[in-house]
Amino acid sequence: MVTDKEFPDRKEKNILFRVLRFDPEKDSAPRTQEYKVPVVTGMTVLEALYYIKEHLDGSLAFRCSCRMGICGSCGMFINNMPRLACHTQVFHLETGTVEIKPLPNYDIIRDLVPDLTPLFEKHNSIKPYIIKEDESLDKEPEEYLQSNEELEEYLQFAYCLKCGLCMSACPTVASDKEFLGPQPLGQAYRYLADNRDCSKDRKLLVDNAHGVWRCHMAGACSEACPKGVDPAMGAQLLKKKIIFGGRKKTAKPAGTQINPERKPNISNAPERTINK
Ligand code: FES
Repeated sequence: MVTDKEFPDRKEKNILFRVLRFDPEKDSAPRTQEYKVPVVTGMTVLEALYYIKEHLDGSLAFRCSCRMGICGSCGMFINNMPRLACHTQVFHLETGTVEIKPLPNYDIIRDLVPDLTPLFEKHNSIKPYIIKEDESLDKEPEEYLQSNEELEEYLQFAYCLKCGLCMSACPTVASDKEFLGPQPLGQAYRYLADNRDCSKDRKLLVDNAHGVWRCHMAGACSEACPKGVDPAMGAQLLKKKIIFGGRKKTAKPAGTQINPERKPNISNAPERTINK
């Protein structure tokens, strides 16, 4: 227990949590339940939910895993904004009441647990992986060289957690269930901008009636993204690539470089664990 002497700025205050509850097997409609939580400085919304579950109501359902903004599983609608519960300190919300609902634009599995199946299906549909020209499985995997500039082309978009906050913020996803949405569009750009990727049909997957042209750049997705990915920008860059085409793929297998110089102080790669 931290004492006031060790941490003089420590605050403690009772905060009212208004949490949406819904069990599709028992309830005909969602309802709101209130809990009073003694919040201390630094406490996150996720920790407050754990307090409710452990001390006030064990039946509350929510989803989380890493508790450090990495796994993307604790997305919720907190005070009318899609946010990660583990990444949101209660006092930073600067309010005496915290309202928590499941992410909009998804069906509810129970309480604060949304059904993210559409997100993962749409994400899979744009083939979110590097596709090489020669896809034969018996080909030995190769290491490819990439300059810092080539990495910068897509790096920002590679920080996507697949938390789905952007999809719940998007007004077009709300009105067109078939619209691919900001997460898949941002990731389609991520792979098109990667000079190791040779996919010929990824552009076709997003260049259709419910694809990239439905994005009218509301920008809510980029505001909601907890990692600064900016999927709205990704969608606009994707449009540019479809209209004007892209640069020629240039990544060369590492073996083609002649006498590459190892940077100082970088240790050798570990021995192979599988023999050819
Ligand atoms: Fe992993 Fe919040 S629990 S991102």
